[in-house]
Amino acid sequence: MGKRLSPANQPLQGELKVPGDKSISHRSIMLGAVANGTTTIKGFLPGEDCINTIKCFKKLGVPIEIEKEDVIVVGNGFEGLQEPNDVLYVGNSGTLNRLLLGLLAGRPFHSVLYGDESIASRPMDRVAKPLRQMGAVIDGRKNGSYPPISVRGGNLKGIEYESPVASAQVKSAILLAGLQANGVTTITEPALSRDHTERMLTAFGVELKRENTTVSLEGNQRLHGTNIQVPADISSAAFFIVTALITKDSELTLTDVGMNPTRSGIVDALLAMGANITMLNERQINGEPVADLHIKSSPLKNIEINGELIPRLIDEIPILALAATQAEGKMVISDAEELKVKETNRIDAVVNQLRLLGANIEATEDGMIIEGRTNLHGGTVDSLGDHRIGMMLAIASLVASGEVVLQNEGCISISYPDFFPDLANLKNN
Ligand code: S3P
Repeated sequence: MGKRLSPANQPLQGELKVPGDKSISHRSIMLGAVANGTTTIKGFLPGEDCINTIKCFKKLGVPIEIEKEDVIVVGNGFEGLQEPNDVLYVGNSGTLNRLLLGLLAGRPFHSVLYGDESIASRPMDRVAKPLRQMGAVIDGRKNGSYPPISVRGGNLKGIEYESPVASAQVKSAILLAGLQANGVTTITEPALSRDHTERMLTAFGVELKRENTTVSLEGNQRLHGTNIQVPADISSAAFFIVTALITKDSELTLTDVGMNPTRSGIVDALLAMGANITMLNERQINGEPVADLHIKSSPLKNIEINGELIPRLIDEIPILALAATQAEGKMVISDAEELKVKETNRIDAVVNQLRLLGANIEATEDGMIIEGRTNLHGGTVDSLGDHRIGMMLAIASLVASGEVVLQNEGCISISYPDFFPDLANLKNN
């Protein structure tokens, strides 16, 4: 069993708009659900993670309709959320689990959140701890640290919190609780993580203060329903950017790609490696920078990846590691221990799976070391249920010399249901 992927070494040609940004899609439903009035979302990602967000908010009593390409959310303020009479299934989504905990921390009722096998091993204490400090009652497996996790919200008070990790999920959960708290809530992170929540809260009419890596807001603010246009997901675009760069004679345009500087680290890293990527039509949509990207095959040189760049490309490290196998020299990735608590342990997953195709790659405590200019061969590999590992391995098959059999490829629909048809279209142009 598994998906058989023949070696292609064929150029990618043409134009593509990858699906909507996953982080922004989740947030558009969440903020729409607690706003007053109607929010219309265009370009929503219909991947499994975001569909689970819609299902959770419907169970919380929020009317949400899908009309053709648009998603319409009718919010009735935070008070419009009702105690669910069923458990809330978050599927594979850490973002949904953690942000929903933050939102529910301020609601005077009881909810239980659970998900798939991967979610059961994702640490929740990073959000549970500050939310308890604010006044919520949170419990779960292993002393309240892992899902299934329950929350009984209450009267919250604002806190000043210094997060030990640069995590947008932690920051967002605290901000969503802070909006319902008495007083001011302030969070400082060690490096700036993605700031979609801050940008979207502003679009919904919330006032917040930002300075370097600190953000603060006053509690008891109201959100006003608005129209949201979701940009194409740079994390999905990254798979095609790298494919175009490492296959001969490729020339590709990816349109409407979200270029938020807290997310565009992958483009910066590839440019530093010598990639031919041009940004066109740079513009802003709902406070989010967007551009069309033109990419041509390029000889790449490996660089070191660490420090503040890490949170700006954390989800793109699997595909960056594949790019590194084809570039000149050695890539050392460090400061990336957060990879161990993603959908899989992505240090182990990347290293073990790419080795099966002949990569010369080694795991370290906080990252990996990859030797470049490696000829990958065919083999049987496994996504391990991690969508980004699955897509990376599918792209690896395009530069491998033999057939790659990809097991458990179904998880790719978590963030990119049409990944294989979109790839096939670009190969046939
Ligand atoms: C996300 C934040 C990141 C990222 C995840 C999506 C978000 O996680 O890896 O895929 O939408 O807030 P952390 O906040 O845990 O770093």
